[in-house]
Amino acid sequence: MSTAVVTTAAETVSGSSPGGLVFDRTDELAAAAHEQVVFCHDRATGLRAIIAIHDTTLGPALGGTRIKAYASEAEAVTDVLRLSQGMTAKSAAAGMDLGGGKAVIIGDPATVKTPALLRAYGRFVDSLGGRYVTAADIGSTADDLDIVAEATRWVVGKNKGGSGDSGYSTAYGVFCAMRAAAERRFGPEGLAGRTVGVEGVGKVGARLVSLLAAAGVERILVADPDATATAALAANLAHVEVVGSVIDAEVDVYAPCALGATLTPQSVELLRAPVVCGAANNQLLTHDVADLMHARGVLWVPDYVANAGGVVQVGGELYGHSHEEVEAKIAAIGHTTEEILRTAEDLGITTSAAADAVVEARLAARRAEIGAQESAR
Ligand SMILES: NC(=O)c1ccc[n+]([C@@H]2O[C@H](COP(=O)([O-])OP(=O)(O)OC[C@H]3O[C@@H](n4cnc5c(N)ncnc54)[C@H](O)[C@@H]3O)[C@@H](O)[C@H]2O)c1
Repeated sequence: MSTAVVTTAAETVSGSSPGGLVFDRTDELAAAAHEQVVFCHDRATGLRAIIAIHDTTLGPALGGTRIKAYASEAEAVTDVLRLSQGMTAKSAAAGMDLGGGKAVIIGDPATVKTPALLRAYGRFVDSLGGRYVTAADIGSTADDLDIVAEATRWVVGKNKGGSGDSGYSTAYGVFCAMRAAAERRFGPEGLAGRTVGVEGVGKVGARLVSLLAAAGVERILVADPDATATAALAANLAHVEVVGSVIDAEVDVYAPCALGATLTPQSVELLRAPVVCGAANNQLLTHDVADLMHARGVLWVPDYVANAGGVVQVGGELYGHSHEEVEAKIAAIGHTTEEILRTAEDLGITTSAAADAVVEARLAARRAEIGAQESAR
């Protein structure tokens, strides 16, 4: 580690992001109040990373490391703050004793990702003593984590001695959530005979397509700029059709499994699917898009509820949960979805508000316990 770690150093970095980088934000992240944000710089390897710990009320902050060529430092900060806040909600809703954290490494994974840089990153993770536990995300793989793990024990989802890639677990959780939403919207037949559009057929999307085909989905439209990935699926599964775009296609379910922020005031106008459920993180461009979907009668399963399968797997690795326990917890994502959708309908609120209430209740209960323990001292 060649340079000092700067903690919550918003003031030291000038930026033009809304109102300030971390503390004085005026956008939707203003209320997020992250516990700790760590800027990491290793001169020898050129590593520039940011680790954000949003909330450790429920346990150590766990979340993946995204490696991406951000257009600016401010953009990287915004991404890591949003993603780590989402992890707090995801683990809370999934019943995991984990807090929310995430990290970003700034740079194109194709060029910056050297073993030396990954080890330098691991030393920064290690310096946090387990307050932050890392895993894979876009731009990083289980193989990369094996290298990070040479410098720290606070790594999950690695191949060597770990549970490996979490793509299948995430896909299975999304599938359970989607089935629950389809039953609510279409009746007991659920997904059978329906058309689902899957946007992005990478580690999660491709597995989701296979699960949907096995569940009797009539047609599965897939869109992905990676033509090899879509062609492989279409060649192997009779129900799959490759299209240019699915968000505006005539489908019963739209499943965003590529990038976040695809649900915008504009795109929601084009949406023809009555159900939206997918793996992508931070699907809404802004919170008010949930209201727009609600007003249009679109049933949206909040991303952090649907895509928790991965964190259930890697959190299970951290705590030594059995395979059966992990599977049961992933399947429970379907029940949680059912409850949230029912509450939203009964109270006439958005699914987003209903899911946030589940998260808040869990955090509040734990805070009360911690408060009681403190006052008993
Ligand atoms: N892997 C996990 O366990 C996990 C867990 C939770 C959330 N997620 C989220 O799910 C999403 C997918 O994750 P992944 O691990 O499958 O990533 P991945 O990188 O393996 O796959 C993403 C796929 O999306 C495609 N893509 C990129 N831009 C696209 C576009 N505009 N339209 C359609 N396709 C596009 C890419 O070509 C790629 O095939 C990400 O948003 C990720 O953050 C993943």
